[in-house]
Amino acid sequence: MVKIAPSILAADSAKFGSEAALLETAGADLIHFDVMDGHFVPNLTFGPKILKDMKKHTDLMFDVHLMVCDPLRFIPWFADAGADIITFHIEAVENCREVISLIHRYGCKAGISLKPHTEVSAIAPFCDEVDLILVMSVEPGFGGQKFIESTPKKIKQIKDIIGNRPILTEVDGGINMQTAPICIDAGADILVAGTAVFANGDYRRNILALKGE
Ligand code: DX5
Ligand code: ZN
Repeated sequence: MVKIAPSILAADSAKFGSEAALLETAGADLIHFDVMDGHFVPNLTFGPKILKDMKKHTDLMFDVHLMVCDPLRFIPWFADAGADIITFHIEAVENCREVISLIHRYGCKAGISLKPHTEVSAIAPFCDEVDLILVMSVEPGFGGQKFIESTPKKIKQIKDIIGNRPILTEVDGGINMQTAPICIDAGADILVAGTAVFANGDYRRNILALKGE
């Protein structure tokens, strides 16, 4: 069964604590944090204190997506603040193994994310260390963008490379009631959704619809 990770980027940041509790009640499986440094992507979002404060309001796993130039610097901050999964961008680092092992040393699951134009073959060398692969179905930086139509093909290619290894495939960007089933059919395990979850305020109905229930 696919899991839904609402992106808190699309929530009202004045209500992050209560939103976390509402998302849990509504059936969300994880909470996705789009951390942006204003350099790797042209947007600036939030730091680790948000996770620390939100942790008091929910037992959901915290899925941290680092869209930053220097993930090594930020991993300890977010791990200490309550991250369960920390994902970095392959395009941002020279030495992926160094980043994966630091994430593991801090007791978190390690994910690698690929921008839309990054070839799938780039993750092949790390499939025996990484726990999750995050496929960007939009150009990272902002919510509310249009789903890139070639994404399902990329998901299938990743599933072929993973084989039967216990690696989760997560998809992020432009996920809605139309694109969710396409990604699920292609093999996605987790879908990140911001706009589609927070639109119209009926979180439970939106999450169930994204799951195809
Ligand atoms: C892009 C962000 C978005 C966000 C989801 O950097 O990572 O993909 O999580 O945005 P929506 O669901 O609004 O497309
Ligand atoms: Zn994200």
